[in-house]
Amino acid sequence: MTSSNPKDPANRIDAHELEVASGTRTYVVAPVLSHRSAESGPARSPEAKREEAVGLAAAIDLNVVGSVVVTLAEIRPSTYLGKGKVEEIKAIVEAEEITLVLMDCALSPVQQRNLEKAWGAKVIDRTGLILEIFGRRARTKEGTLQVELAHLNYQKGRLVRSWTHLERQRGGGGFLGGPGETQIESDRRLLQDRIVKLERELEQVKRTRALHRASRRKVPYPIVALVGYTNAGKSTLFNRLTRAEVLAEDMLFATLDPTLRALKLPHGTKAILSDTVGFISELPTMLVAAFRATLEEVLEADVILHVRDISHGDTEAQAADVQNILQGLGVETNAERAIIEVWNKVDLLDAPAREALLTASRRDGDGRPVVVSAITGEGVDHLLERVEAAVAAGRLTLTIDVPPADGAGLAWLHDNCDVLERETDEEGVTHVTVRVAPARADQVRRRFGLTVIGPPEPDFVRKIG
Ligand code: GTP
Repeated sequence: MTSSNPKDPANRIDAHELEVASGTRTYVVAPVLSHRSAESGPARSPEAKREEAVGLAAAIDLNVVGSVVVTLAEIRPSTYLGKGKVEEIKAIVEAEEITLVLMDCALSPVQQRNLEKAWGAKVIDRTGLILEIFGRRARTKEGTLQVELAHLNYQKGRLVRSWTHLERQRGGGGFLGGPGETQIESDRRLLQDRIVKLERELEQVKRTRALHRASRRKVPYPIVALVGYTNAGKSTLFNRLTRAEVLAEDMLFATLDPTLRALKLPHGTKAILSDTVGFISELPTMLVAAFRATLEEVLEADVILHVRDISHGDTEAQAADVQNILQGLGVETNAERAIIEVWNKVDLLDAPAREALLTASRRDGDGRPVVVSAITGEGVDHLLERVEAAVAAGRLTLTIDVPPADGAGLAWLHDNCDVLERETDEEGVTHVTVRVAPARADQVRRRFGLTVIGPPEPDFVRKIG
């Protein structure tokens, strides 16, 4: 399995092996359907779609020689694009010596193959490209395993389909195993073996992570998670808030795995700030599932900061995408969790746009957004105060005196609350300090009657709230 012979099938299924090399002369095609369905969310400009695709290609150092928006009335099953367009692009591929065409859409294996044949160049689709990006950026063990698994499943889907296709061509004879088996079938089996092995490894890593999480939940720090569309400025804000050195580049997907740092809030509250992978539109379903675990930090966050590039022409569509994905993950604002919108890059707006934005940001009452510039630092102090207020509103510290006879009560507290401290006095009464969300606090009050004393609301909450 370790031989470097490229004919060895084991070498052909290594998902880490990059399918496209840096510097490859690339042409980007952004197909846009002229009839959009009403459910597909707010409209995006074709130009922004093209720019995003070029940005994605640049994120893995492809040499983008040119790009085009192609408006389609319908998708052709054989080549996705119409015949005339295929011919037009063929001429460009030849004249510009293009070796890779990025189709910013999901191609079927047949479409991909037909286009490669027609253009004499390698073709990758959006899923393939995102897999490449994720593959290069994965930093943690879990991230790497997830990307590899998604990659193998993607490849397997393609192999299986072309295999059935071949089989049908030959008259559909059932040849399973034995001397007649095809290369594709053995590739498929190797892929499957590797997938099973990876899934097992991933389970193990997840279990370890769950343990770490469980122990972290004992630490009385609330979790604040940054989410947002790719390039919204999460890493820049993360750096500004924590003054940490993490990768911030004008590049899509500079962050893949969650990064955690301690965050000190203005009135002394400590929190953990978590930076997450950037969201993108049309993230292939298979990748959403694969990256769910990297977003687990978000599921457990006390406060979510949804960072938006407010200067971007498609900011509304981007926000809708992020909200959809968060909803899909079951994340919503409730008594235990606040979601604060952070309108970033205000420094890029001219004076009238800036005024309009500030006015709009004041309208929303409790859910109002915070306007900031992660670059200049404008608005960041206010953001920190809002975070602190949200954290304080979201969790309460309670002290309960549990009588010696109530062993079940003690067990209940350990099962249902974050126990910060526990001390038994000489009369056998146990004083337990717990940190809980408001809903849980009510349960605690009911369970233990009047022995609960909640702390007064801190001054700054009244001031800011
Ligand atoms: P992903 O990792 O791709 O999800 O991106 P991200 O959301 O972490 O964005 P990042 O912090 O890498 O910023 C993207 C680009 O926007 C960088 O070039 C930043 O310098 C720039 N940027 C971030 N915040 C601001 C801001 O407030 N003002 C301006 N002018 N540029 C900003």
